[in-house]
Amino acid sequence: MRCSVFRRSCAGAGTQTQPRLPRAVPTRDGRRCARAAPRSTACRAHKIVVLPGDGIGPEIADVALRVLTSAGRAEGEEFAFEEGLIGGAALDGAGVPCPEATLEACRRSDAVLLPAVGGYKWDNVDPVLRPERGLLTLRAGLEVFANLRPAVVLPQLAGASSLKSEIVTGVDIMIVRELVGGIYFGEPRGFRTNENGEKVGYNTMIYSEKEVERIARVGFDMARKRNKRLCSVGKSNVLEVSMLWMEVVSRIGEEYADVELTHMYIDNAAMQLLRNPKSFDTILTGNIFGDILSDEAAMITGSLGVLPSASISNTGPGIFEPVHGSAPDIAGQDLANPIAMVLSAAMMCRYGLNIPKVAERMENAIALVLDQGYRTGDIMSDGMTQVGCKQLGDLIQEQVEAPVGVGVR
Ligand SMILES: NC(=O)c1ccc[n+]([C@@H]2O[C@H](COP(=O)([O-])OP(=O)(O)OC[C@H]3O[C@@H](n4cnc5c(N)ncnc54)[C@H](O)[C@@H]3O)[C@@H](O)[C@H]2O)c1
Repeated sequence: MRCSVFRRSCAGAGTQTQPRLPRAVPTRDGRRCARAAPRSTACRAHKIVVLPGDGIGPEIADVALRVLTSAGRAEGEEFAFEEGLIGGAALDGAGVPCPEATLEACRRSDAVLLPAVGGYKWDNVDPVLRPERGLLTLRAGLEVFANLRPAVVLPQLAGASSLKSEIVTGVDIMIVRELVGGIYFGEPRGFRTNENGEKVGYNTMIYSEKEVERIARVGFDMARKRNKRLCSVGKSNVLEVSMLWMEVVSRIGEEYADVELTHMYIDNAAMQLLRNPKSFDTILTGNIFGDILSDEAAMITGSLGVLPSASISNTGPGIFEPVHGSAPDIAGQDLANPIAMVLSAAMMCRYGLNIPKVAERMENAIALVLDQGYRTGDIMSDGMTQVGCKQLGDLIQEQVEAPVGVGVR
């Protein structure tokens, strides 16, 4: 582990208000000192473990840390960054894709920033040593059970969507997906031979009441922070597991009278996402349905390079990572779009560290830079100015000091 500490003054941070966070989001009193304490009181830095990973990971991590540090400084927050190994870099450096030292450092942290793992170099290694296994180990080790995937169409990029811009302009959806249960983990699973001598493959889609309750609360709390509309998605006309899901979500919904709850079948939800995406606010769903719907919603926004995500638990640090992979085809060429990484760091500030003002600064800075017409190659269009990863980072970093206006949430 390399450790670099970026100290930032806490002065001037005592005037902000503190919105409510979803209950599942870890908040620690010590991390709020900058807000609650008088100016002269020393505050504790937010402990962030950064796992640059592979491919474009180090390039976009560098931008995110610079922007985060500047935004924190502007809001009187300080960060202590500790770097660790994950993925192919960890396999090369420590012989496993998620070393115990990384896991330990992450457990001790307030939040984890993770750009991406994987690459051609490790395509043929033993499956249990693949870089992507490092991610699964980390998620399991930190018990992050709720995946938050916003699908926000940035007005400046509405033309990048494959849907008509009048359909997508203004889309702002949050998908809350259960991440550690359901059919991806259910037992029994495997292959066997049936009575006709044929080989069959089988899996089990299973949720307990408790598993549904805890993710439902994340969904309701999230909806409450947004436009107070929660759509629970399943297949309760066919699957018993979805019948239970619907029953439990409805019961928890009684505690949230201010949130409008609807239920939708997965097939209809997939259709409505394309037909009228603006009809959704917050979507709550299980592991496999969420996997598919969140990718579909992501494509509505049109660009992989601008999509952040968060995976959170009830008690410990969350993992904040872009939706895209390590993009080995453009690694090391200053071509990567750092926006998804910066927005992931903003999600970390809002949902992991409870410092939404810092998140707003970062989101607002991105909007301003896009308004000025700067684009990386992946989101380039006529009349815009193409820049590299580093320069886009410089521009966002400059803007992060600008007054906060309407950001992307
Ligand atoms: N969470 C993760 O770490 C994660 C997720 C997906 C894939 N992967 C891994 O990443 C590697 C590459 O996978 P892939 O090619 O299927 O997906 P990818 O997301 O890395 O790349 C898909 C395409 O999008 C482009 N792209 C992705 N992010 C970009 C960015 N920020 N800026 C500009 N262009 C960007 C790439 O250049 C590529 O053309 C594989 O090893 C895969 O296993 C990791």
